[in-house]
Amino acid sequence: MSRERPTYGVRSQISLSLPQTYDLTLKYFTFHVLLSMYHLIRTILFKIDAEKVHYRVMKWLTFACTIPPIRSILKASFVYRHPSLERTVWGIRFPNPVGLAAGFDKDAKYTDQLACLGFGFIEIGTVTPRQQPGNPKPRLFRLPADNALINRMGFNNDGATEAARRLGVRKERIIIGGNIGKNKDTPNENAGDDYEKSFLALYDQVDYFVVNVSSPNTPGLRALQDKEPLTQLLNKLQTLNKEKGGSKPILLKIAPDLTNEQLDDIIDIITTTRLHGIVATNTTISRQNLATSESEVATIGAGGLSGAPLRGRATEVIKYIHSHSNGNIPIIASGGIFTAADAIEKLNAGASLIQVYTGFIYEGPAITKKICKGIIQNR
Ligand SMILES: Cc1cc2nc3c(=O)[nH]c(=O)nc-3n(C[C@H](O)[C@H](O)[C@H](O)COP(=O)(O)O)c2cc1C
Repeated sequence: MSRERPTYGVRSQISLSLPQTYDLTLKYFTFHVLLSMYHLIRTILFKIDAEKVHYRVMKWLTFACTIPPIRSILKASFVYRHPSLERTVWGIRFPNPVGLAAGFDKDAKYTDQLACLGFGFIEIGTVTPRQQPGNPKPRLFRLPADNALINRMGFNNDGATEAARRLGVRKERIIIGGNIGKNKDTPNENAGDDYEKSFLALYDQVDYFVVNVSSPNTPGLRALQDKEPLTQLLNKLQTLNKEKGGSKPILLKIAPDLTNEQLDDIIDIITTTRLHGIVATNTTISRQNLATSESEVATIGAGGLSGAPLRGRATEVIKYIHSHSNGNIPIIASGGIFTAADAIEKLNAGASLIQVYTGFIYEGPAITKKICKGIIQNR
């Protein structure tokens, strides 16, 4: 890997988030108990509707975090700090390179609670300017045989203003990305206005922006990845950014289903619009090489596939962008990251940071710490 490696500090520099009296052995023990508990609990959780479980678990986590000793135990168990994990990208100092991908905390309701689980950053959204309900339920499905999910959520969210309000009262100063999109009933000709509204609403509350034109679940959205509308949209946001002082990095989130020619166009557009980076990739519409039966996949129907089956293609896209841009475009990797080896594969392909979503569902809250430790061991 040609990228410059960070320097590594000594063990004594590892910061503890609890008083010294909290014994390291107990911390190790708690982490492993919670880890085994998750695998047991997951068997039960996976029997319940996936979307219901999401909100139920976040409710429990919210409750647990209201009790200070439990909050401290969670932090001590899952937050892992080490100087060699730190990364500076776009002038932002990330405590570690493992972020939570967009879609998990669409409405910025749980950033304080998720901060206890050790993420280096959290991407909220996708938010749209106006609140919208998303697609009819059920719209989130597990494919356990493939370590995958299929979702057709359709940007269900409370609107950009509400997300901004919640971010304004958060307690944990974790790095926040704001992922923005357009409302379903906004025609593509007016999409720019939607992105503008969400951009302005979130501007003071987020550290970077992601322009999402790659979700397969909003009809026509991905047509905005075409050269002309995309250039217009990104120029518009860059103009606003300049008017606001030009301080917020803006990234583009792309689909894994683009051809190499389309990726060449994207690289070109990023360069000409002076965008700051790319999130690669979103979910795929492909259903190739799945262990889940064709009939089950057909019954689930439309939606974006995420998780292990996406891993290889997402890595290919990252490699392509990295090499064809001479490493000049910072990339956040997303797609099929479950383990430290998966994360290292993405970093070696050219990513500066990584994000998890499906891996978080399958592996549980210990995923960030496990990946962080693995990165350190392989440095
Ligand atoms: C249920 C669900 C909802 C998602 N919602 C969004 C979203 O609103 N905006 C977005 O940019 N990506 C969204 N994603 C895509 C993820 O951010 C991520 O890019 C993708 O799932 C690939 O990563 P993974 O394999 O680690 O899940 C969603 C994914 C899932 C599974």
